[in-house]
Amino acid sequence: MASSSSPFDAYRIPTKFLVDSGTVVHTEQDLDVIPTNKQRAGWVEMGWKEHNPLGSGAFGSVRLEKNELTGKLRAVKLITKDVLLECGIDYKHELGIFIAVKDCEKFVSLIGWFEDQYHIYIAMEYVEHGDLEMYLAGNAAKARAEVGEITRQILKGVTVLHNKQICHRDLKPMNILIASLVPIRIKIADFGLSTQDLSSHIPTGCGTRRYQAPEQLLFLQTESMQQPRSGYYPKAVDVWAIGIIVYIITTSKHPFFLPKAGEQTSKMNGSWGITTVNLTTLRNYVNGVPLATGDLRANGLSDEGIAFVKRLLHVDPKDRATASDALHDAWVIE
Ligand SMILES: Nc1ncnc2c1ncn2[C@@H]1O[C@H](COP(=O)(O)OP(=O)(O)OP(=O)(O)O)[C@@H](O)[C@H]1O
Ligand SMILES: [Mg+2]
Repeated sequence: MASSSSPFDAYRIPTKFLVDSGTVVHTEQDLDVIPTNKQRAGWVEMGWKEHNPLGSGAFGSVRLEKNELTGKLRAVKLITKDVLLECGIDYKHELGIFIAVKDCEKFVSLIGWFEDQYHIYIAMEYVEHGDLEMYLAGNAAKARAEVGEITRQILKGVTVLHNKQICHRDLKPMNILIASLVPIRIKIADFGLSTQDLSSHIPTGCGTRRYQAPEQLLFLQTESMQQPRSGYYPKAVDVWAIGIIVYIITTSKHPFFLPKAGEQTSKMNGSWGITTVNLTTLRNYVNGVPLATGDLRANGLSDEGIAFVKRLLHVDPKDRATASDALHDAWVIE
């Protein structure tokens, strides 16, 4: 990347949009490509074409693109500027987090970004084995055997985030990508809801209901969760979400949210709204009923593993393990 005054500028990719052919053309430095007459040595015009969609969410979509010249693949997240601005979010926000974590292999790496009038496009490495939700759907037993390793890798990434005072706020299987199957290697994705401003508020309403901590669900808050601003524990919401993920990998069930009659118990994505889930179990848990550990035990989780899940799912955020504590837990240590 060319050196520049702002980190955003350093990652901006010069771009032309060829509307008729649906091709995005960049001028890129690529030393693998032999320059032709039209090209300056080492600098080539590269056309990228949409291959297939990879996913979509509240603010945009992610698609796979293929380089017409080299066959290389990349994933491109397209974010609609207006939708973000309407929500009061700077559309370069997610990009800023990508740049902040660019040197850590536990995150999807940023290639660069470009924009048109209506969208910002974040080009990133393509992580070829899909996300953890897809992986669990097809490989539940393998994932159960790998739960310690997967957890350790998620915690390593989240510890890096938290050390940089960044809170992810949307950790869930769909946002954990599978970079390698053997050995299992994960990468954390989707910084759409992440924040570097940890002092301003408890992130209520942010994230996916089924992975939200009790302090994010206002109607579940106990008195001790309603602390003064200085007492907030914003990073603790990520630790809670990891506790839920560990429970789900181990049991293929959510610890608190029961599906309505007719819904599949294995459905784990965020599409259940708060009104369609049974909150009684979570409410009881917040009010002191112990976590039911029978399913964890029945699926082979050791006493140490069960104690670990309980440390992550502590109701009160100030007593919940930190990501760094959890990384040093006896169950997680390599
Ligand atoms: N780099 C990537 N490589 C492969 N697949 C990806 C990549 N990034 C995202 N995906 C797939 O696309 C899905 C959506 O991506 P992502 O979570 O970043 O966006 P989103 O949920 O639409 O975002 P937002 O919640 O900010 O609107 C992911 O769950 C994953 O399956
Ligand atoms: Mg997502």
